[in-house]
Formats: sequence, structure tokens, C-alpha cells
Amino acid sequence: MGEPHGGKLVSRHSSRSLDGMDAIEVSYDLRSDVENIADGVFSPLEGFVGRDDFESIVKKGRLASSGLAWTVPIVLDLDEATAAKARQAGEVALATAGERFASLKVEDAFAFNRLESAKSIYGTDDPKHPGVDKMANMKSHLLSGRIEVARSMPQSPLRRRRMTPEQTRAQFAAKGWKTVVGFQTRNVPHVAHEMLQKAALNLYDGLFVNPLIGKKKQGDFKDEVILAAYETLIENYYPAGRAMFASLHTEMRYAGPKEAIHHAIMRKNFGCTHFIVGRDHAGVGTYYHPFAAHEIFKDYPDLEIQPVFFPAFYYCKKCLSYANERNCPHGPEARDELSGTKMRKMVSSGEIPAEHLMRPEIAKLIVSFKEPFVQ
Ligand code: ADX
Repeated sequence: MGEPHGGKLVSRHSSRSLDGMDAIEVSYDLRSDVENIADGVFSPLEGFVGRDDFESIVKKGRLASSGLAWTVPIVLDLDEATAAKARQAGEVALATAGERFASLKVEDAFAFNRLESAKSIYGTDDPKHPGVDKMANMKSHLLSGRIEVARSMPQSPLRRRRMTPEQTRAQFAAKGWKTVVGFQTRNVPHVAHEMLQKAALNLYDGLFVNPLIGKKKQGDFKDEVILAAYETLIENYYPAGRAMFASLHTEMRYAGPKEAIHHAIMRKNFGCTHFIVGRDHAGVGTYYHPFAAHEIFKDYPDLEIQPVFFPAFYYCKKCLSYANERNCPHGPEARDELSGTKMRKMVSSGEIPAEHLMRPEIAKLIVSFKEPFVQ
């Protein structure tokens, strides 16, 4: 099994009392990322990144301190006065809905250029891009420092499949998998997704299906639909013992190529040796070239998780199978192209996707939800 990013799985939990500290209220999504830091999903990060690391991530896609690959900064944004107060306090508690759950040893508080950073991470400063929009609306200052989690997140049905890297690594070892290929998704599975995963299963010992559960843009599938759909798919279409399914709780950032690297690093920490990158990975609209997320891996020969690149898969009506331009000679008129966007459009217009595009059990499940999309 592969080593965690930076060589050591981070663990930042404590049973210390958080009483008496000033508390900073954060969003539920940010709490998920604090939990990810504590559980080592973001190894080697031990907290919110500092000024040097932030600038280096934005400009070079690497941590300043170690030079390790890192493309998406994990940060806590605050207004100037709150940031200054926290810095003076030296240590603060983090809370959601008044519940204190973690401590933060404050190292620094610094202003940052929101649009410049967004442009570098997302490759655009178009406010219509969901990642740019979020960054443009962040508070003006970032607070950095190491965190320790004292209280785990409240249980919820959406967390029924969550696993920590320690747990996934133990499971991979118990299954005897030497090579494990990770699959990121923010969608319910269509048959092209399944074919990518199964093509990879021809080559590696195990498949780790790891849908992203967390904040997504309007029109994406809701988390509960994605979870139920994957449970149904794995139960009906995967050989027992070859596929494992756990959810990853973090935000979707839609950063295309840079997010592909971030996605690969998280799966490296879960213990994967390989990671699937297909067409328009983590893309949105037409901001990224469909294979920009393949190209970027050339800049990271030191990543220590092997990307597994796939061209665009489509259903070929002449080959009567899934195919792609590398193995099929037929033109666009013979193709049923598949994408998450196309599936979302079909479902929202009341059309049930045909069996060769979406498994009937999945289609049935989706339409059983009154509102399957993020509003
Ligand atoms: S993502 O935002 O999480 O990347 P999605 O869930 O649609 O979106 O994709 C999951 C993975 O499958 C990504 O690696 C993506 O590139 C790949 N993928 C999705 N559809 C296709 C397709 N038709 N052909 C090739 N790769 C695809």
C-alpha cells in the first residue's frame, strides 16, 4: 500500500476542554474539513495553512515548507477585527451552532487577494464560476494554525458510509489488496462511470469508490441520492470483495485540473495506489479543456499515486458496447455520449435514461426522490 502524502498519516484529536476559550463560529462544511485534517485525509496538513504555504499553493501548487504537491488551500476566513482578536488570544475554539468542537493554536492572521488567488486556483476570475464566486465572497483575512478536534461531528444518515484513512487502510490490508484504484465522483453513477471503474478493475486488486459528499452547486445531485445510488450499484453490479465504497466529506470546488491533484492526494491518504482521471474531471461548464486534468499530472511526477487516465467513454451503437476513440472507429452519429450534465438534464425533464446509459435500479431510485437535485 502507498504511503500517506508526506510520509505520515496526520492525527489531530484531543480530549482537552474547550471551555474558557473565545469561540469562532464556522460553517458545517468547514467543520467537515477540520475533521478531515484531524483524521489525516489532508495529510500532511495539521491545520489551516499559513501565509507562506498559502502563497506557494496558489502560485506553485506546492507547499512552501516541504515542496510537497498541494493545489487547493484549506483556510479559515474571517473579517479583520475577528482575525486580529483571535491572533491576540493565541488560541481559540471552533464551533458550529454554538457547539465547540475543536481548538486552533493561532499562528498568523493575514489579508489575501481574493480574486488573484481565485484566478490562479480556478484558472478564471469569472464570478459565474462557483469556486470563484465562493472565493470572491470570502472574508478578507485568513487565520492559520494547527487544529485539534475534541468532539466528533453529530451522526447523520449522510455519514453512514464515512471512513477515516486509518479505517480504509486497515480494510485494504485485510482484503490483501496490494493495488487499489480510487474513483472520485460527485454524481449518481451512469454506465460510463461504471465502465471506467470496471476497466480499472481489470488491472488492479481493488476498487475504492469514494463519492464526494458535501456542498455542491445548484443543479448537482443531492448527497442522499448519490449515496443510495452507489449502494444500489455496488450491491447489484460489482463482484463481492473487489469494490469498497466509502464517502468523502468535503466541498466540491470545481477547480478542474488543480482539484484533480487535490482529489488524488486525498485518495493517496486513504491508501490508494492509483486514481482514475477521466474526461473533464472536477470540471464545470466549459472552463477547462476536457483533458486538462490529465495534463497537469505531468507537473507532479513526485505525487506517488499513479493517475489512471481514460479518454471519453461513450456507448457505440455499432460496436454495441462502451467504447472510446482509442478503440472504436465509428463517428459521432453512432455515439451515445454520457456525462453527469446530460443525465441531470434527462432526469429533470422527466425522461428515464435508457438501460444502456443508466442501470434501471438507479433510474428507478432517482425518480423515487421528490427532489433529487441541490436547489
Ligand atoms: S467529478 O466532478 O467528480 O469529476 P463525475 O462524477 O461526473 O464528476 O466524474 C467522475 C469521474 O469520472 C471523473 O474522473 C471524470 O473525469 C470521469 N468521467 C465521467 N464521465 C466520463 C465519460 N463519459 N468518459 C470518461 N470519463 C468520465
